[in-house]
Amino acid sequence: MKEEVILEVKDLVTTFDTEEGRIRAVEGVSFKVKRGQTLGIVGESGCGKSVTALSIMRLLPKPFGRIERGQILFQGQDILTLSAEEMHRIRGFGISMIFQEPMTALNPVHKVGDQLREVFQLHFPEMNDDEMWNRSVEILKKVGIPEPVQRMSEYPHQISGGMRQRVMIAMALAAKPDILIADEPTTALDVTIQAQILDLMKDLQQETHMAIIFITHDLGVIAEMCDEVLVMYAGIAAEFAEVIELFKTPKHPYTMGLLSSIPRLDSKRKTQLSIIKGMVPSLYELPEGCRFINRCAYAMAVCEKKSPELRAVGGDNHVASCYLY
Ligand SMILES: Nc1ncnc2c1ncn2[C@@H]1O[C@H](COP(=O)(O)OP(=O)(O)OP(=O)(O)O)[C@@H](O)[C@H]1O
Ligand SMILES: [Mg+2]
Repeated sequence: MKEEVILEVKDLVTTFDTEEGRIRAVEGVSFKVKRGQTLGIVGESGCGKSVTALSIMRLLPKPFGRIERGQILFQGQDILTLSAEEMHRIRGFGISMIFQEPMTALNPVHKVGDQLREVFQLHFPEMNDDEMWNRSVEILKKVGIPEPVQRMSEYPHQISGGMRQRVMIAMALAAKPDILIADEPTTALDVTIQAQILDLMKDLQQETHMAIIFITHDLGVIAEMCDEVLVMYAGIAAEFAEVIELFKTPKHPYTMGLLSSIPRLDSKRKTQLSIIKGMVPSLYELPEGCRFINRCAYAMAVCEKKSPELRAVGGDNHVASCYLY
C-alpha cells in the first residue's frame, strides 16, 4: 500500500546571523514523511537536526534565525506562507513537538494540570472540565508518571527533569497531532522509562496513525522505531533510505562510518557517533566541495570542486549526496 505523504520538506535552507557572520545551519535539505510512519533523523551534534525541526514548527529564534529558501508542505499546503495565527492552530493539532530541553516548552508559573488542560481546551473545546481533568490524569499515567493526581497540582520546578520530560511528552500527545516531532525525547531518561516512552509512542501511532519524526543520536533506537531514515551531516542531507536498506547497504561514506560500530540490526547498545576520525567542519569555514571530504576514505578530485547533490543510489527511494555513485 502506498502511504500518503503528509509532510514534504523541499530544499530547506535555514540561516542564523551571528556575530561572526551568517551561517547556513541547514543547506538544501529535502525529505518526505508518510502518514502513520516514522522518519528518523540522525547525525552528529550540530549537524542541523533541531534547526530542521524548529524550521518545520516555524519556531526559529527571532530575529537571528530565518528560513532563507524552500517549502514545507503540510498536507500539500506550504506552511511557510501561513499567517502567525494559522500557524498557531497547526502547532499542536497538526504538528506537535517534544523539545530537547523540556523547560523551553513548559510554563514555569503554571501548574502541570493547568498546562495540560490548556492543551485540551485549545484542541477539544467541546470537552467539559471533568472530562479534561480525567483525560489529563489518564495521559500522565500513560507516560509513566506515578501519582498523577498529585502531579497535576505541582509546578514544573517541583518535579524532576525526567518527570518534566514526560509531562511535555504527555502535552504533545494530548492533542493527537497528525505529526509528532520528537527531538531526542528520551536521552535524559533512564533506560526503563525510555523503553516505556518509545512503546507509548508506538502504541499511540497505531491508535491515531500519526506520523513521527524521531531525532536521535542512538542508532539502536532508529533501528527499533523508524521506517525511514535521514542522515544529516554539517547541515546537509547525506543520505535517505528505508531503515532496513540503510542498515544493510549504507551508501554514503559517513553513514558507513556511523554504522560500522553496530554489530547487528537488533542491537540495543548505544553507539557513539564520534567514531569516525577527524572533525566536522565549522559552518564558518566550509570547504568548497563535499562537506565530508576531510574525513572521507573515498575522496576523489571531483569532491573538492563542488558539493554533491542527492542522487539515486540503488533501492527504491534510496538517495545519497556522494560522487561515488
Ligand atoms: N540560535 C542559534 N544561533 C546561532 N547558531 C545556531 C542557533 N541554533 C543553532 N545554531 C547552529 O546551527 C547548527 C545546527 O544546530 P542544531 O541545534 O540543529 O544541531 P543538532 O543536530 O540538533 O545537534 P545536537 O545533536 O547537539 O542537538 C549548529 O552549528 C548550531 O551552532
Ligand atoms: Mg538538537
